[in-house]
Amino acid sequence: MNTFEFKNPTKIIFGKDTIKNIENEIPNDAKVLMLYGGGSIKKNGIYDQVKAALSSFDVLEFGGIPANPEYAVLMQALKVIKDENITYLLAVGGGSVIDGTKFLSSAALFDGDTPWDILTDKIRTEKGMPFGTVLTLPATGSEMNSGAVITREETKEKLAMGGPGLFPEFSVLDPQVIASIPKRQLANGITDAFSHVLEQYMTYPIGALLQDRFAESILQTLIEVAPKVIKDPTEYTSAANFMWSCTMALNGLIQKGVPTDWAVHAMGHELTALYGIDHARTLAIIFPSHYKFNFEAKKEKLAQYAERVWNVTEGNTDDKAYAAIEKTEAFFQSLEIDTKLSEYTKDYEGTAEEISKRFTDRGWLGLGEHQDLSPEKVEKIVKMAY
Ligand code: NZQ
Ligand code: ZN
Repeated sequence: MNTFEFKNPTKIIFGKDTIKNIENEIPNDAKVLMLYGGGSIKKNGIYDQVKAALSSFDVLEFGGIPANPEYAVLMQALKVIKDENITYLLAVGGGSVIDGTKFLSSAALFDGDTPWDILTDKIRTEKGMPFGTVLTLPATGSEMNSGAVITREETKEKLAMGGPGLFPEFSVLDPQVIASIPKRQLANGITDAFSHVLEQYMTYPIGALLQDRFAESILQTLIEVAPKVIKDPTEYTSAANFMWSCTMALNGLIQKGVPTDWAVHAMGHELTALYGIDHARTLAIIFPSHYKFNFEAKKEKLAQYAERVWNVTEGNTDDKAYAAIEKTEAFFQSLEIDTKLSEYTKDYEGTAEEISKRFTDRGWLGLGEHQDLSPEKVEKIVKMAY
C-alpha cells in the first residue's frame, strides 16, 4: 500500500427532508448567493424547500448555469458576487452547478486579472469563498470532493481545477430529489459513478486489500440498484443507496494508498468539449478501448474484478479479464448508453489526432497509473473507440 494522507472536511447531511437543515449550517450574518441550473429545481419543489430554509437570510439568486458549466456564464455570476459583496455561496444542483460554484469560490478570492488562468495554469486553490451544496443529481461526487471541471465554449476547452480550499463546508443529500430526474440523467449518474470507481481501481495490485473491497462493494451496489432506480426513482431505499454510492465513489477515500488512472476521464472530457456529448457517455465510449489497449498492464485487476464483481469463474486470467471488459460494456448498454463515438456523431474523423495534439500542446505526455500513456497511444485508443 502506498503512503498517504487523508482529510475530507465536508459535512454530509443525509436523509429524507433534510434540506431544511441548511439554515443551521450557514453563518447568520452571511450574504448568500444561491446558484442553480436551468430550472429543474423550480418544477420539482427543491427551489421552494431551499427558499423556505433560507427565509431568515439575506439571499440573492443566480440561475441558468448550464450542464458543463460555462465560463462566460460563471463570469456573470462572479460580477454579482463582487458587486453585491456576497460572502457565502450555496449550490443547488448536480455536478455542473456545484463545479461552477467551486470555480466562483476560487475566482472570488483570486488575485489575477483572468480567472481562466486558474484552469490553464493549474493554480491550486488553497482558500476559497465558503460554500455549501444541496445535491439534486447523484453522479459526480462533487458534493464531497475538492475538484471541478469548467467548460469554455469559445475555445472548445474543458479543464479541471481543485485544491484543499474547494471542499464544500456541507452538502445536503436527500434521496427524494431523485424522483424527478429523467432516465437519461439517472443512467448518466450510474455510469459516471461506476467509472469513477474503475479509474481508481483498474490499475495493478498493490496490496491494498481494504481499498479494493471498498471499490468492489460500490460497484456491486451500483449494479444491484441500477435497474431499480431506473424503473422507479421514487423508491427510497434504492435511491438512497444510489446516492451514497455516487458520493463514496469520488470523495477521496477509495483512492488513498493506491495508484489511479484517470486517463479515461482525460480523453472523455475532450469528447464533451468537441461534441457536447454528456460526460458519463464519453467515459462509456473510451473505457472499452482503453482497457483493451492496456490489457497487459491491467489484466490482473480486470480478472479480480471479473471474479469478485461479475462472478466470472471460468477460464484463465486473460479470459476473465476480457470477460470483465465485455460485462462492463454490456452493463452500460443495459442503461441505454451507447459505447461507440460513431453512435453520437457522424463527424468523428480526425478526433483522435485532435485530442492527441491537444495533449501534446498541454504537455500531457504520460497519463495513466504508469505515466506512460503518450499522446500517440491516446490517438490509437480514441481511434479504437470510433
Ligand atoms: O439545469 P437543470 O434544469 O437543473 O437540469 C439538470 C441538467 O439538465 C438536470 N437535473 C439535475 N437534477 C435534477 C435534474 N432534473 C430533474 N430533477 C433533478 N433532481 O440534469 C441535467 C444534468 O445536470 P449536471 O449537473 O450537468 O449533471 P452531472 O451531475 O452529471 O454533472 C456533470 C458535470 O460534472 C463534471 C462533468 O464533467 C460535467 O461537467 N464532473 C465533475 C466531477 C467532480 N467535480 O468531481 C467529476 C466528474 O468526473 C465530472 O467530470
Ligand atoms: Zn466522471
